[in-house]
Amino acid sequence: MAEPRSCPYFHRTVEKRDGSSLLIKQCTSGDVGCVVWDAAIVISKYLETDCFYRNGEHIFLNKSVVEIGSGTGIVGIMAATLGANVTVTDLEELQDLLTRNIEENKHLITGSIEAKVLKWGEKKASGLGCPDYVLMADCIYYEESLEPLIETLKELVGPETCIICCYEERTMGINPQIQEAFFEILKLHFDVEKIPIEKHDEEYRSEDIHIFHMWKR
Ligand SMILES: C[S@@+](CC[C@H](N)C(=O)[O-])C[C@H]1O[C@@H](n2cnc3c(N)ncnc32)[C@H](O)[C@@H]1O
Repeated sequence: MAEPRSCPYFHRTVEKRDGSSLLIKQCTSGDVGCVVWDAAIVISKYLETDCFYRNGEHIFLNKSVVEIGSGTGIVGIMAATLGANVTVTDLEELQDLLTRNIEENKHLITGSIEAKVLKWGEKKASGLGCPDYVLMADCIYYEESLEPLIETLKELVGPETCIICCYEERTMGINPQIQEAFFEILKLHFDVEKIPIEKHDEEYRSEDIHIFHMWKR
């Protein structure tokens, strides 16, 4: 695929447990979704920890996974390399980057993966129908998005869906209030379990990056 001169790429490499590496293109210009955020690395590596394996098999094998706010797509791509059938989603303007990154890593994918437009709060999520898992990394960061984001989660999940959410705690400006408001609204509809840091990947963990599992009540 020819690369437009207006948006040069720089790469992020993430080594997988099996020694292979994900290669993720990031854009030098564009909005926040154009680069890989630390929370995305932390959750990607968390998905490879022992607690996701049963009898040597990854629990994502043949399971349906939807990622929201995928940005570069790294988290969904990791899930697809672990055997899941994944839909990565984001705004229209991220679709080209998502498609390029899927293409870049297709030799590692053992499940399947496709990219779709999903804007939070727009009633399109039901088309993605009750996946086994929903993944989200660093999606809690601006006030106007909180209610639409939670609406989308409510619409997307079924009674058995497990949401795995990772975010970086930011202490500047109104970030603490945004994070607090998110969990306040969320807890009205979802049960939330915080994953202790000892269960995160030993190398890719940080005191200010949190992981939660959540289920619709
Ligand atoms: C901070 S970035 C995180 C990207 C990626 N998950 C990561 O951690 O590297 C937040 C992502 O949420 C997406 N996003 C923001 N508002 C959105 C909305 N209203 N609907 C859908 N996606 C949205 C952005 O486009 C961006 O890709």
